[in-house]
Amino acid sequence: MKEKWDNRLAFVLASIGSAIGLGNLWRFPYIAYRYGGGAFLIPYLVALFTAGIPLLILEFGLGHKTEHGAPYAFASYRKNWKWLGWFAIAVAFGVVAYYTVIMSWSFIYFFHSFSLSWGAIPEVFFNNMVLEISDSPFSLGGINLPILVFLILTWIAIYYCIYKGVKSVGKVVYVTVILPWVILIVLIIRGVTLPGALEGLSYYLTPNFSALKDPAVWINAYAQIFFTLSVGFGVMIAYASYLPKKADIVNNAFIIGLSNCFTSFLAGIAVFSSLGFLAYQTGKPVADVVASGPGLAFVAYPTIINMLPFGNSIFGALFFVMLLTLGIDSAFSLVEAASKAGSEQWKIPRLRLNFLIAAIGIFVGLIFTTRSGLYWLDIVDHYLCNYGLVIIGLMEAIFIGYLINTDSFREYISSHSEIKAGRWWSFFVKIAVPIVLLVVLGYNTYYEFRNPYGGYSTAALVIGFGFLVVLLIVAIIFSKKERRL
Ligand code: ALA
Repeated sequence: MKEKWDNRLAFVLASIGSAIGLGNLWRFPYIAYRYGGGAFLIPYLVALFTAGIPLLILEFGLGHKTEHGAPYAFASYRKNWKWLGWFAIAVAFGVVAYYTVIMSWSFIYFFHSFSLSWGAIPEVFFNNMVLEISDSPFSLGGINLPILVFLILTWIAIYYCIYKGVKSVGKVVYVTVILPWVILIVLIIRGVTLPGALEGLSYYLTPNFSALKDPAVWINAYAQIFFTLSVGFGVMIAYASYLPKKADIVNNAFIIGLSNCFTSFLAGIAVFSSLGFLAYQTGKPVADVVASGPGLAFVAYPTIINMLPFGNSIFGALFFVMLLTLGIDSAFSLVEAASKAGSEQWKIPRLRLNFLIAAIGIFVGLIFTTRSGLYWLDIVDHYLCNYGLVIIGLMEAIFIGYLINTDSFREYISSHSEIKAGRWWSFFVKIAVPIVLLVVLGYNTYYEFRNPYGGYSTAALVIGFGFLVVLLIVAIIFSKKERRL
């Protein structure tokens, strides 16, 4: 018998669990901070409604209808489009390789919480004591052992979480989805009552319309929406393939999309009030108070934790446990997408497949455990999300909008949904998504070659795009393989 979710709630929770993750508490705040706070929110919301939710509906529909993981879902319509599914899996795999390293940092912070070892200047602690960061991507500086050890532990945890397949996922997520909201609310209450918090919040919430002219803001908004909704990874296709035939697609997509982005919005309130507080303390403007990179969360949250009136250590520990529980159901969803695809292609027992994925994951993740790991994480994250995910979203829209019978696909979705996928949905898939994504992709690619990302040298650009090309080649090779079941 095919694997199925126990009930509708299990699917909704597992999908929310996949969506809500480090993307909300770690990635969203620093991307929003980097792209001007209030300047980012409008493109972010536009991206949610114009591409995020329509593509989430598309992926749910595709998984539900075909009952396959990404490669065979596309192949069941067009044989030679299996590569798109494998490309999504390859990008998911690239992401999980560094995602687990951020979880490893969180593990380390969990232990440091008990003595609040980050002290009064968490930024210095993060760079110098935890990462022991080198001065450029190319001075690797050897592997940072604690990060490697906790990376391995993270993978062991992921392996155990999924070892029973989707049934066990359905149970783990009850805990991993609900706890974070409670903790986030405590942080917000403390955050917004800190001196200077208002200044941080006004930086976050005041729209800046002139920034809308910057195409980099737009591609980052779309990429962040895909990342945060787990769209473009093949995850939602795999999860929807386990839905019973009687299920609701459109409703679920709205519930998941909205609750996910609301969580990011809340995380933004906590982080920006903490940035306001730092600005107040240091006398610097909010925009320059810390580096706007992947380390932001490890500076902003400890700053609030320091300022709690009591129970700082316990609360700090609880916060990092939460980050780990949030991360783990997203991480295992990324692994599950790969594992489902692999199990449809080769006759390998699931457990062995998951073990193999974990082993390769640790190996690829080694680069991020070096003393220049933060730079590599920043570079790889940028290229995989801004180009990988956006290209996959674009191709999915073209595939469903032009290569198959869109109307009958739309009718299928509607017949499994309370809210119907009306013509508005076809409009997004056929017109809005392809045009917007083509424009932002085109402009940003052009711009990227003139100004390599983040001021890294051209070598970083070559490696960033190179990595993406390697993933694409692997995807194409896999898609040519005959099925061996
Ligand atoms: N959607 C997952 C996250 O936001 C990958 O962390």
